Amino acid sequence: MTITVIGSGKVGASAALNCALRELDDVLLLDIVQGLPQGESMDINHQLAERGSDSYVRGSNNYEDMENSEFIVLVAGIGRKPGMTRMDLLKINSGIIKDVSSKILTYSPNATVIVVTNPLDPMTYLTLKKTGFKRNKVIGMGGMLDLSRFKSFIHEFTGVSRSSVNAMVISEHGENMLPLTRFSSIGGIPLHEFMSNSKEKLDEIFEKTKNVAADVIALKGATVYAPGNAVATMIESIIKDKRSVIPVSAMLDGEYGFEDVCIGVPVILGSNGIEKIVELNLNNFEREIFTKGITSVKEAIKSLQI
Ligand code: LAC
Repeated sequence: MTITVIGSGKVGASAALNCALRELDDVLLLDIVQGLPQGESMDINHQLAERGSDSYVRGSNNYEDMENSEFIVLVAGIGRKPGMTRMDLLKINSGIIKDVSSKILTYSPNATVIVVTNPLDPMTYLTLKKTGFKRNKVIGMGGMLDLSRFKSFIHEFTGVSRSSVNAMVISEHGENMLPLTRFSSIGGIPLHEFMSNSKEKLDEIFEKTKNVAADVIALKGATVYAPGNAVATMIESIIKDKRSVIPVSAMLDGEYGFEDVCIGVPVILGSNGIEKIVELNLNNFEREIFTKGITSVKEAIKSLQI
């Protein structure tokens, strides 16, 4: 089997490294930039060799080399610059996604696609429509990354072990992101109970989770390690049929009362990709933000005139 990463920039290389370190499969790094995937793969293989990992990473500029890949990690596109929102990338990245989707259909028609390119939810929808793949096989990596940040802030604010923190983030991987304090916990204790005497801190964590990616980009130019790890965790759950419950951008077909839109929701990830979309009983506040996310993504999709 092969995991093909389309886009060998920082996030693509990080995804390749994280998948290889977990020995999920061999990895192909693809890019149009001559030399970039080849250099990244050499560097990664040197690390893998020292660690004794038997996953092998290849670099290529030829789409033909992705033939019959089981997994495609779609990272191709422009990353946002400081001060930009993810949605600012809609027009330029939609053109790239349309082109790459046709190549995925040609060379790997049976693949499971993990979409990373921003704006994530509209790009997940566009990939699904342009490949014509079933909705369980086109999965957006957004919520998994957002919950990584939510967990990090919960750890920082409470001082508990990171291993005791469970977190859930749904809705748009963007301005209408929804960290779910009611569905997050520490050692099984609901987060809002664990932090019952520090509501203002909880509100601060909520806001920081939404905005921290922009802070990282302002400081170092791009987010790299957390996205690469999130991709590997999703692929691991599928390849090993772990059936982990993970928030991802998924196409809704009536779930949560919406259809024909991709948005962050909890799903069971197993060998068939999205095995099941988990519907949560959202309260009025949560539903309001979720609906704003749906509206934002639907407006973006409409503007693409797919
Ligand atoms: C981030 C980008 C990948 O949140 O959307 O880091």
